[in-house]
Parts: sequence; C-alpha cells; structure tokens
Amino acid sequence: MILVTGGAGFIGSNFVLDWLAQNDESVVNLDKLTYAGNLENLASLDADPRHIFVQGDMGDAALVASLLAQHQPRAVLNFAAESHVDRSIHGPEDFIQTNIVGTFHLLEAVRAYWGQLSADKKAEFRFLHVSTDEVYGSLGPTDDAFTEEHRYQPNSPYSASKAASDHLVRAYHHTYGLPVLTTNCSNNYGPYHFPEKLIPLLIVNALAGKALPVYGDGQQVRDWLYVKDHCSAIRRVLDAGRVGEVYNVGGWNEKANIEIVHTVCALLDELRPRADGVAYQSQISYVTDRPGHDRRYAIDARKIQSELGWKPAETFDSGIRKTVQWYLDNPGWAERVQSGAYREWVKTQYQTAA
Ligand SMILES: NC(=O)c1ccc[n+]([C@@H]2O[C@H](COP(=O)([O-])OP(=O)(O)OC[C@H]3O[C@@H](n4cnc5c(N)ncnc54)[C@H](O)[C@@H]3O)[C@@H](O)[C@H]2O)c1
Repeated sequence: MILVTGGAGFIGSNFVLDWLAQNDESVVNLDKLTYAGNLENLASLDADPRHIFVQGDMGDAALVASLLAQHQPRAVLNFAAESHVDRSIHGPEDFIQTNIVGTFHLLEAVRAYWGQLSADKKAEFRFLHVSTDEVYGSLGPTDDAFTEEHRYQPNSPYSASKAASDHLVRAYHHTYGLPVLTTNCSNNYGPYHFPEKLIPLLIVNALAGKALPVYGDGQQVRDWLYVKDHCSAIRRVLDAGRVGEVYNVGGWNEKANIEIVHTVCALLDELRPRADGVAYQSQISYVTDRPGHDRRYAIDARKIQSELGWKPAETFDSGIRKTVQWYLDNPGWAERVQSGAYREWVKTQYQTAA
C-alpha cells in the first residue's frame, strides 16, 4: 500500500492510473479537489478496490495521521501543490499555505507515523517529494543545464514555495532521519493536463477558433517531458533511489515556447485541419509577457540515468503527437473542465457511493 497526495491532479492522476495498471499494490489517494483536482481522470478506477480516494487536505494532520494508522503505507508520495505560476503571481497566499505549510504538516504526520514503525518497516519506508526544476531559477542561453548541485534561486511565488518545501523535506532527513527522496522535474505534458497550461490551452483554443496567446517574444526555453515518463521516473526513484538524494528528471527536449506553438499548430493542421483550410498559426496572438518570466530552464538528467538506469521512453515528437491525439479523442473531458462541469463529478461520485 502507498499513499499519494494530489492524485486527482494532472501528474498525480497519470501516476495513479499507471501504478495500478502495472502492479496490484493499492493506493490511498488524498486530494483536496481544488479547481485543479478532477476525479473524472480516475473514472476508470471507480469499481477498483485498489484505489481508495479520500477528499481532504494534506495539511490536515489529524486526517493524515488517521489514514496512515489505518492503511499503514510503505511510502508516501507528495504530488499535492498549487502549481500554476500565473495564479501564484495574482494570489501567492494559497501557494504558501499549500506548498509550504501543507507540506510541513504532512511531514509532521509522516514523521510521527514513521517513528513508531518496527525497525524493518522504518528502514523500508520512503517519503517521496515531487518537485520542479523551477526552484533553480533561470539560465542564460549558453549556461550548463541544472544539475542537482545547482543553487536554489526561485523567481516566482510558485517556485519559491516549492523551494521552501524541498528544504523542509531535506531538513526532515538530516534532522530526524526520515527516509526522503526528492525529484525535480521539468515541464510535463500529456493527457489530463488542465487547459490553463500552455500545451492543452493551445489545443483547446485552436479547436475553438480562439487566439493562441504567446507571452512576450515566445523565446522562453523549457525542457519538456511526457507525463508518463515522469511517472516512470518517480517509480524508479521510489524503487531504487538512495535515501536523502535528489534526482533531476528531464526529457532532453529544450524548446522555445514559440516552437511548441508551431508544433501543436502543425499537428492540428495534419490531424484536424480547419474547415476553411487556413493554418492554425493564423490564430497566434502575442500578449504582454508574464512579470519576472524566467528565460530558460534546462535539466541535466545524467544522475538518474547513470545511477538508476532511467531515461524517457518518448521523444518530444512521439509524446506531443500522442498528446494532441488524446485531446482530439477526448473533447468531452476538456469541455467539462472549461465549463466547470467536472466538479459535479465529485457529487455524482459521492451520491453513487452513498
Ligand atoms: N506540471 C508540471 O509540469 C510539473 C513539473 C514538475 C513538477 N511538478 C510538480 O508536480 C506536482 C503535481 O503537479 P500537477 O501539474 O499535477 O499539479 P495540478 O495542479 O494539476 O494538481 C495538483 C493536485 O493537488 C491537489 N491539492 C492541492 N492542494 C492540496 C492539499 N492541500 N491537499 C491535498 N491535495 C491538494 C489538487 O486538488 C490537485 O488534484 C506538483 O507538486 C508540482 O509542483 C509539476
């Protein structure tokens, strides 16, 4: 049995689906169901007794303590977070509360649980913290990619709150001996991605005939990783990562945002051409840049490759094609997210369960 937090979000739901597709170990999924949590992502597990969903806050120490006591997980994986940089600029407080204070309360509950385990179980237990490359700040065009030793230089309230949570996790290992692992991953893309983020936003806006917003000059560079590759990296680190270590996870796919926009447009031109025959690129619209927008992130993922033998299975070309195809095959999912109807899923779920 493992316990995940934030397992109804984009990466968390992909992780839970992949986990249960690959082995029989049950998952307790603790998710607060903020706007970013979508139980519809996990609809295929509705009748699966291996998936135990609990709506709640990871910062609710009493709830977490009772879940740990009841289910006795061998690992806790922390995906839960406020994750959208633009939202952190408009309203940082939720980010401080969830990403820092929430992680602190979670760590406290986990420390108390871990402290009373038998020696064998204590040695076997892991707390895996899912973090981001954004904690390292911004790179110049020719700087070396982020290694695990790169100094922390977060520039947005989002990345600062994630950096603080990484430091807490590190401190719980050094101070209390809690067996922690941290992963710092680059930008993910793939199925179930909330359409406030670049790639799903481009796809849904393009299909709806709306503008494709590009910040500033579109030359901000990010490394992109297909979400299922991130999930396989997390499984690998959980299985074989050295306690107390940090592993950077990336796709070796540095792309400027404008390149992403052109790629998505070209795929849509091929797979779902506009009725009027005009190229989707005609919908591109440059908008005022985000304040403090980091220029470049790049991940050096050699440590996880050499130590743990992990590397991504998808290239950017294969992953982005699968992603665009998924959105074309699941128009209802994006529609329900945009209309807010996905939140009804909770009520339906609980009515059915009652
Ligand atoms: N998306 C990316 O490209 C990316 C890249 C690297 C790292 N990360 C990290 O991976 C993790 C998951 O990211 P995501 O993109 O899936 O985020 P997301 O915003 O899609 O999902 C976050 C989930 O956490 C839940 N949640 C929020 N606050 C909670 C709380 N207090 N208690 C319990 N659940 C809570 C939400 O309901 C939601 O289901 C985050 O920690 C993020 O920082 C994301």
